[in-house]
Amino acid sequence: MGEQLLKFAHFPHIARLLSAETVPAHARLSVLDVGCGPGTLVNYYPVPLPYDVYGLDLWPHQLRQAAAKRLYAGLLQANLVDGIPFRNESFDIVVCGEILLYLPNPRQILAECCRLLRPGGMLLVYNPISRFPKIIGKLKKWSRMVYQEKSTIALDCQRDWKISTRPCRVTYYKPGGLIEDVNATGLRVENITAFRLLLNRIRALNKLEDYRWYRRASELIARRYPHLATDILIEARKDTSTQAGAAVHESGIVSKISGVSEPLNLRRPNT
Ligand SMILES: C[S@@+](CC[C@H](N)C(=O)[O-])C[C@H]1O[C@@H](n2cnc3c(N)ncnc32)[C@H](O)[C@@H]1O
Repeated sequence: MGEQLLKFAHFPHIARLLSAETVPAHARLSVLDVGCGPGTLVNYYPVPLPYDVYGLDLWPHQLRQAAAKRLYAGLLQANLVDGIPFRNESFDIVVCGEILLYLPNPRQILAECCRLLRPGGMLLVYNPISRFPKIIGKLKKWSRMVYQEKSTIALDCQRDWKISTRPCRVTYYKPGGLIEDVNATGLRVENITAFRLLLNRIRALNKLEDYRWYRRASELIARRYPHLATDILIEARKDTSTQAGAAVHESGIVSKISGVSEPLNLRRPNT
């Protein structure tokens, strides 16, 4: 039943979008899963995997779980606060699934994603939104502490996250704000899909998603009235004529890693 929760509805949706992407006959689609966590996304891809999927995360225990799936072409431990250490135009698809809210520098990371995309490549950003971002951000941070989830997010990543005990700020976007930030990268927003409604901030009420009627009603309402949704997926495309990183050179992060000519520290699963 759990797999049917709306919480997971974006995963098969993303898998379908990837299947629809075309690459030259001799090439394989190259995908970066930013903040891959335990690798939930790869569960939804066809097997054998027709793409080369790379994952990046802060926490070794998350990466170990991802590696156990034996589907990633490479996994990298990195703190997104420092940027994303891959060369320009390395990927056809970059997926940012529920990660921007934990970062102090979401705009910079979006700019980084844009830099990493090949011309014609696609960025998929799945993120919560809220009309009351400050209140909801505080509630989320509080619930993270109650549910002892500190070790799945960066701890106070503005400081030294390894020794810090304070969960980092959780920043919610207003509906429009996230789209604005994606637009600011210079990518062309092609589609926005809304998934869930009001209740998903309250865990006990998520139980309602066990009921088919509730899921159907939520899906229909979220699609009809996306401004009421609490989770959206943005599909944005890099122009085929875009120069590498044209929109991102102000980020500062880019200049820091512009000397990188090959992906760093790529680690094959279980090696
Ligand atoms: C809510 S989980 C999302 C996981 C996965 N993308 C998904 O959709 O299931 C957020 C992930 O971001 C990672 N993360 C948080 N802050 C990070 C940072 N500063 N650098 C790299 N990864 C980070 C966490 O370790 C966690 O795996």
